[in-house]
Amino acid sequence: MKVLVATQKPFASEAVDKIKEIVTSAGYEFALLEKYSEQSELIKAVKDVNALIVRSDKVTKEVIDAAENLKIVVRAGAGYDNIDLASASEKGIVVMNTPGQNSNAVAELALGLMVYTARGFFNGKPGTELKGKTLGIHAYGHVGSLVGKIAKNGFGMNVSAFDPFIPAEKIEADGVKVYNSVEELYANNRYISLHIPANEQTKKSINYDLLSKMPKGATLVNTARKEVIDEDGLVKIMEERDDFKYVSDIAPDISELLKEKFPGRVYFTPKKMGAQTAEANINAGIAAANQIVNYFEKGDVTFQVNK
Ligand code: 3PG
Repeated sequence: MKVLVATQKPFASEAVDKIKEIVTSAGYEFALLEKYSEQSELIKAVKDVNALIVRSDKVTKEVIDAAENLKIVVRAGAGYDNIDLASASEKGIVVMNTPGQNSNAVAELALGLMVYTARGFFNGKPGTELKGKTLGIHAYGHVGSLVGKIAKNGFGMNVSAFDPFIPAEKIEADGVKVYNSVEELYANNRYISLHIPANEQTKKSINYDLLSKMPKGATLVNTARKEVIDEDGLVKIMEERDDFKYVSDIAPDISELLKEKFPGRVYFTPKKMGAQTAEANINAGIAAANQIVNYFEKGDVTFQVNK
């Protein structure tokens, strides 16, 4: 059995050591492909592997077709929009994620982006505080609920949420107000933190109509996926309103244009940084390795996402 860890954006070395330990203790072979620059390197490396651990790496049909012996792909993280699920399912390949394992890192970064924005990106001029401000959590999953809890209990923000997939009572139990429509969420919050996945329903769904509902001094925080933003709509609202800010750990395709047009109102981390902590890497890496061993040894498919 051969397990390949393929990460264009490498894990912390402690995480790699721990994955290696789990894989080799199970009697499997461990292989590593880090910081590759060409997709062809991934295609070449998967040829003889039985299991694959990735992050945001693109597991396309080409990769799946090249991996003749592949049985399982684990996305060490939450979003699996980088994996061609249909092609995997067609070949009977199990795809899993590791929900919750890197959530704290992403949640902390979302709050960090809010502080950074409220303080004028540390420009030295008087900024504002988060305390008492309204924060709307768009999707109350692992990351969203943590952002809500930290914002409420740590910063004293007024937190509300919209998530049609989670029972209102569960959200309210955290002292978080529930809105039944996404429009209401946007209309009532100065800060919006995005935590929706990128899929056919959500792509480009954060559009002009929705953003224009946000109150004065609006800040949109995106630690989810760039694909969920309708970039034309974002530009339009930012052209119309000089109070509107957009910050993200995922630079949009038009990041240079945004930086040029709206200086002091946009900020993007140089790479997708939300889950880039040693702790998150270790948690997600260990979970991914254990899930692979449990799948091969016991047929455990608990975290399968392509059932
Ligand atoms: C996730 O979906 O888990 C996060 O977006 C983190 O992605 P990364 O592993 O590529 O940093």
